[in-house]
Amino acid sequence: MKKLINNNDLIKNAKRMWPYVKPYWFRALLGVGLTIPVGSLDAVVAMFMKPFMDKVMVDKQPHFSAMIPFLIVGFTIVQGCLQYASNYLNTWVANKITLGVKRKLYAKLLLMDSTYFDTNNSGTILFRYSNDAELASTGLVENTKKFLSKTFSSIALVGVLLYNSWQLALIAIAILGLFFYPIVFVRKKMKEIVKKSVVSLASVMTIYNETFGGNKTIRSFTLEGEFSKKFHRATEETFRLAMKMVKSTNWLSPLMHVIMSIGIGLVIGCGSYLIVSGRITSGNFVAFIAALMMLYTPLKGVGNNFVAIQNSFLAIDRIFEILDLQPTIKDADAAKTLQPLQKAITFENVCFEYVPGREVLHNISLEIPKGNTIALVGNSGGGKTTVSALIPRLYDVTKGAVKIDGQDIKTLSQKSLRQQIAMVFQDNFLFSGTIRENIMLGNPQANEEQMWQALKNACLEEFVKDLPNGLDTEIGERGLLLSGGQKQRLAIARAFVKDAPIVILDEATSALDNKSERVVQEALDNLMKNRTVIVIAHRLSTIQNANKIVVINDGQIAEQGTHDELLAKGGAYSALYAMQFKNKEEKKN
Ligand SMILES: Nc1ncnc2c1ncn2[C@@H]1O[C@H](COP(=O)(O)OP(=O)(O)OP(=O)(O)O)[C@@H](O)[C@H]1O
Ligand SMILES: [Mg+2]
Repeated sequence: MKKLINNNDLIKNAKRMWPYVKPYWFRALLGVGLTIPVGSLDAVVAMFMKPFMDKVMVDKQPHFSAMIPFLIVGFTIVQGCLQYASNYLNTWVANKITLGVKRKLYAKLLLMDSTYFDTNNSGTILFRYSNDAELASTGLVENTKKFLSKTFSSIALVGVLLYNSWQLALIAIAILGLFFYPIVFVRKKMKEIVKKSVVSLASVMTIYNETFGGNKTIRSFTLEGEFSKKFHRATEETFRLAMKMVKSTNWLSPLMHVIMSIGIGLVIGCGSYLIVSGRITSGNFVAFIAALMMLYTPLKGVGNNFVAIQNSFLAIDRIFEILDLQPTIKDADAAKTLQPLQKAITFENVCFEYVPGREVLHNISLEIPKGNTIALVGNSGGGKTTVSALIPRLYDVTKGAVKIDGQDIKTLSQKSLRQQIAMVFQDNFLFSGTIRENIMLGNPQANEEQMWQALKNACLEEFVKDLPNGLDTEIGERGLLLSGGQKQRLAIARAFVKDAPIVILDEATSALDNKSERVVQEALDNLMKNRTVIVIAHRLSTIQNANKIVVINDGQIAEQGTHDELLAKGGAYSALYAMQFKNKEEKKN
């Protein structure tokens, strides 16, 4: 029994799960406790076999035969009621535990940094944060219940066996020992398969996610065939693993059947001898056989039960693997609160790598004085977005430092840092809900007036006024029901209500035609007024007035200066400018 479920695991898992069970311990105990009489009442029915045989079949006492059916039905009714109560309680407890674990996991997910999301796909997140919680707690409660009720019913039934014939009981118990032996072999194999299954199931979920998010791309590139194949391959793998699991675990039950038949065979053989030699009555023998059947029958299922226990233990392991994760970006012990920007944001010899060993920013040094607008331009993949992501600490620098008014941002609380920064991305994420809800994300305290002002500054006022539901118009998941430009302007309005002193704008106009670009540009110009701005632009026409233009090519600052200075210099910027100018001329002709 010791090796059955590795003791260390058992204790470790039990200890770690305890805080989630603790608030409901009384109901959990009651629910599990009720399974004790449910299990032991099995023995009562078996016990009745002896007087029934001896008094009715042999002694022919009619009053006893009249009583037995009532007693059996009576006990079964009691057993049924207890079972119902115990099931109800156990399900309640299991769901409460699931809830607790899920909430804790979700809180952890919210804490994780960008690198974590870069390196884990959505399917893995769905599977490990949602499914595992259920698997773990339902499995835990269900199996503890089963295990205990089977144990108590076994103890009671073994009592019946011993009462009726200790000789036969010894044979039966010896055989019982053999039951557990094969289980040890299954464990290790299972662990491997389950690990692969999780990866495989997660990849199937990712496909669903991508099909949802990329449905237009799939349709327009007619990728239905490819995706169907991809899905077949992924599900084939889950099928293969499921079968592998059956192959390596399901021989347990049939093997137990065989062991069981050996036990029954031996008992019948020896039992006949004991009856003939007058050592036990035939009543003893029938009661014994009934109890033995009742004892062995649930044990036949022990193989499957064991697989379920292992599964939930493995899920618990995975849960704590997640709960043990530490985000790489976290507040320093005595993190300071960032005060409003006084002087400047500075990059001091900043190097950065997303993937260890592949540096994407090399020795960036840059000063962004308060109230200035700094434009980042340069070749695609050069590192502009990366530079801007370092300011709110979406990633941490690998070498060097980003400082605000001379303080390394690593010493500041993330919350106070990010409260000072409003970001508008190229691909802005809007959430399902209404326009109002999406704007309020920028500032949950925003009042009606501030909201309309933000909409006005974002050049969205007319549009929202014309909507039948106005601010309460639903915009669909990810803002699906809005146009590209409307989405951007809503994101700008969201940044507006935040009213942060530092603004980061990444490529905000690149996806638009000329007319809407002008509208969005106007909105952006409004947003940039009186703030410290880092703006990333591909269209150089939009940033000519910036205080400083920084050209970032291949992770390095190629040159920096004002528009006029850089043009006069005749370097990278003027080449970029000449190219865009030429393109524009060509388009006109
Ligand atoms: N999450 C990520 N994980 C790994 N590498 C990344 C990640 N994001 C960007 N990169 C890499 O870092 C480099 C810089 O990317 P970045 O997005 O900063 O470029 P960019 O100048 O903004 O380009 P663009 O003008 O096309 O937007 C690129 O080589 C890119 O492949
Ligand atoms: Mg970019």
